[in-house]
Order: sequence, then structure tokens, then C-alpha cells
Amino acid sequence: MTQIDTQLQDLRQNAQDEIASCETLDQLEQLRINYFGKKGQLSKVLGAMGKLDPSERPRIGAMANEVKQAIQTDLDDKRTALQAAQLEAQLQSETLDVTMPGIYRPQGQIHPLNGIIDRALDIFVGLGYTVATGPDMESDYYNFEALNMPPDHPARDMQDTFYLPGGNLLRTHTSPVQIRYMEQHKPPLRVIVPGRVYRRDSVDATHAAVFHQIELLAVDEGLRFSDLKGTIKEFLRQMFGDLPIRFRASYFPFTEPSAEVDLQWQGKWLEVLGCGMVDPNVLQAVGYDPEQYTGFAAGFGVERFAMVLHQLDDIRRVYASDLRFLRQF
Ligand code: DAH
Repeated sequence: MTQIDTQLQDLRQNAQDEIASCETLDQLEQLRINYFGKKGQLSKVLGAMGKLDPSERPRIGAMANEVKQAIQTDLDDKRTALQAAQLEAQLQSETLDVTMPGIYRPQGQIHPLNGIIDRALDIFVGLGYTVATGPDMESDYYNFEALNMPPDHPARDMQDTFYLPGGNLLRTHTSPVQIRYMEQHKPPLRVIVPGRVYRRDSVDATHAAVFHQIELLAVDEGLRFSDLKGTIKEFLRQMFGDLPIRFRASYFPFTEPSAEVDLQWQGKWLEVLGCGMVDPNVLQAVGYDPEQYTGFAAGFGVERFAMVLHQLDDIRRVYASDLRFLRQF
């Protein structure tokens, strides 16, 4: 027995003990480096091989290989065991009990009026329109004057107005957004404008003080009444299917000629929108040349649409926040 025999046997024994008592993968890696690294224990022992009697070298060499193999096998087995234990621990800590009862969270839904606005906007976006909005508080200029209703114009009486301190008012319709949009853009333009509007009306089954409109405006060269009619018809067809409709001559200060459109519903004609060719005075108010451009406009009553689509007899219900009612839609 040479000294190197003993050293190899001790090395083997120590490695076996240390690997057996090792508890983590990090420690195990340290052990591997400690034994097999460049400056590791095995290299140290083998470094002394040169001093051996040459006749001894093959035997010691073979022995060193055996020791190395044995340690390697111990390291591999231990790594496998530690990895399995780690996975097991992870699975334990992440256990999910799929039989636990869930937490009930009440499911919200789109309000029927918003649902109708969404549908209408989708249809117009499909027809190439852009969605725009404007403020609820307006000045007299945008709500009336620029729309061809100068002070003392009798048509102002058609819309009983909530006036605010400081000369402002709550818009009585979405038409002021026509003016605001045209001031900011050049023709050609096609916009669709949803919004809340306010009137000093006495509230009943078909009137509310706060309600919703959708305004339509198209300005381009060469637009004619037939373009307006075709657009409205296509919209109503997509919205209501094949309900009978009729155009009826009417009057609005901001359109000339003007019309109202009725839907036949429950055996009666129900007015659902006003429309017309934009009055040249309105185009002039925003600096457009009425000799070059023409336009058409319309204002839809969202609550009226809701009455038809959801068979409502009293629009006050849609504002009452009664979930038993709202959940039906
Ligand atoms: N602003 C009108 C109203 O509230 C509705 C309306 C009629 C809008 C004709 C329009 C239009 O754009 O062309 O009664």
C-alpha cells in the first residue's frame, strides 16, 4: 500500500459521507467543485502520481478512475433525489383545492340605453363615420346662435332650456357639436355624436328632463337629400329590421329642407328622429363656403329607439336603477 492508496480511499470515504449528509442542490454543487474542480481534492491526489514508481502507475491510475466514478455516481444519485424532493415540496406548497366553493361576484352588464348607443355607433362606423363628442354645458352661441337661431328666434321656444349662472346653459340637443366639430375640421367630414341632453320638460311616460341623442353630420361636395334619405334608411334597417318608416316634412332652423322620420310601431307612427340638409347659414357660421359644400344632419332620440327595441311603455323605467327591470336586457 502506498500513501496514495490510502489518500484515495479516504477521499472516497469522505465524499460518500459528505454527499450523504448534503441537504441542498447548492451544497451539492459545492461538493462537486470541491472534489472534481481544477484545484479540487482529486486533482491534488493525482498531482502526486508523478512521484510514483512507474510500475505502480497503472494500478493507481485504475484505482483513481474507480474512485472518481464512484463519487460521480453518488453525486448524480443525490442530485436526482434532491431535485425530486424540491419538486415535491413545491407541489405541496402550491396545492390548489379545486373543490373549494368560488366567491360569487355579481356580474354587471351594459345599460339598455348604452347598448343602443353602442349598436347605433357601430352601424355608422361601418358606414365610414367617426365618433365625436362635445360638452354638456354650452354657450348660447353653440346651442342656438350658430345653429341659425339668433336671440329672439321663435324656434328657441321649441326647446325649453335650463340656463346656468354666467350665461351658460345645459345643451338642449347634440346639434352644437356640429358647430364645434366643423370649427375644428375641414370637409369632407362624416361624424356621429352620442350625448346627454337637457330640457325643462315635465316628465311623463315619453318625456324626461335628461335624455340622450345621437347627432349625425356629413359635409362634402355634392351631398343631396337622396344621400340623407339613403343613409337614414340603411341605418334604420340595420337597427330595426324591416319596420315601416316614413319621412314627413318638418321644420328645424338649422336645416333646409327638414324632415322627421316616424317608425310604425304598435299600430302607431312614432317619431324617432329629425333631419335635413344643413342650412347654408350654419355652414357660413363655421366659415365653410355654402356654394362649394352641402351637408346633411340628423338627430336621433335614443330613448325612442329603446322604447321600440325593448317594447317599453314608460321611459322613466330606464332611469330608475331598478335592477329587476334592468336585468331583463
Ligand atoms: N336638434 C334637434 C332636436 O333636438 C334634432 C335634429 C333635427 C337634429 C334635425 C338635426 C337635424 O341634426 O338635422 O330636436
